[in-house]
Amino acid sequence: MSTLLYIQASPRDNRSKSTLVAEAMVNAYKQENPNDQVVTLNLFKMDLPEFNGPALETKYAILHGQNPTTPQKEAWKKVEWIIEQFKKADRYVLSTPMWNFGIPYRLKHYFDILIQPGYTFSFDSETGYKGLVTGKPIAVVYARGGSYAPGTATASYDMQKPYVELALQFIGFTSIHSIVVEPTLHGSSQEQTLVIEKAIKQAGRIASELARQPVIH
Ligand SMILES: Cc1cc2nc3c(=O)[nH]c(=O)nc-3n(C[C@H](O)[C@H](O)[C@H](O)COP(=O)(O)O)c2cc1C
Repeated sequence: MSTLLYIQASPRDNRSKSTLVAEAMVNAYKQENPNDQVVTLNLFKMDLPEFNGPALETKYAILHGQNPTTPQKEAWKKVEWIIEQFKKADRYVLSTPMWNFGIPYRLKHYFDILIQPGYTFSFDSETGYKGLVTGKPIAVVYARGGSYAPGTATASYDMQKPYVELALQFIGFTSIHSIVVEPTLHGSSQEQTLVIEKAIKQAGRIASELARQPVIH
């Protein structure tokens, strides 16, 4: 049995377009793989530890090759728990809105906890940075009110998809499937329905690809 970790970064529950499309993907995946486990995290509902004080100082202690102090170790346990929960999954689905051209603050908070030296990446002065979350596929659903298609005048405003891809590649992902749901706020209601229908069809296809891709631990 393998585990699909599904991470939701919209607080809009059943009004969220990114959640709607990602749920279609997760449901299609479950139909094809009824024995797999799906773990769902809603980043606006789960408890994310503050990343300051002793937790933050632990990151610097690790970076400088020093032993964390007892309070730092205590604060770090919550960080480790979130990293372990992430790393033990086999496949991933992430859904995120665009907020002010980037990602919602709770997803940034999650990345700030997740992306840690020695856990999700390593550094070597000769070979540089290396991602440690390898051999597993991820699908990301991006929803945006406007349109940022490559080659258009607004393409360079998109700090959402390039940033998420960079963060995921940095920690080792090489197989990243993407669905862009846009525009969710402009156009007639018929046009908006078409945007969602197209994205849901893509979600079904990607669900099958995710399921078929072998996972290497
Ligand atoms: C705080 C906030 C900031 C937003 N910023 C942008 C933006 O910069 N560009 C854009 O196209 N849409 C923006 N939107 C619109 C959302 O991207 C759009 O409603 C999208 O569908 C949200 O995803 P969701 O439906 O999954 O929640 C913003 C919405 C909110 C609530």
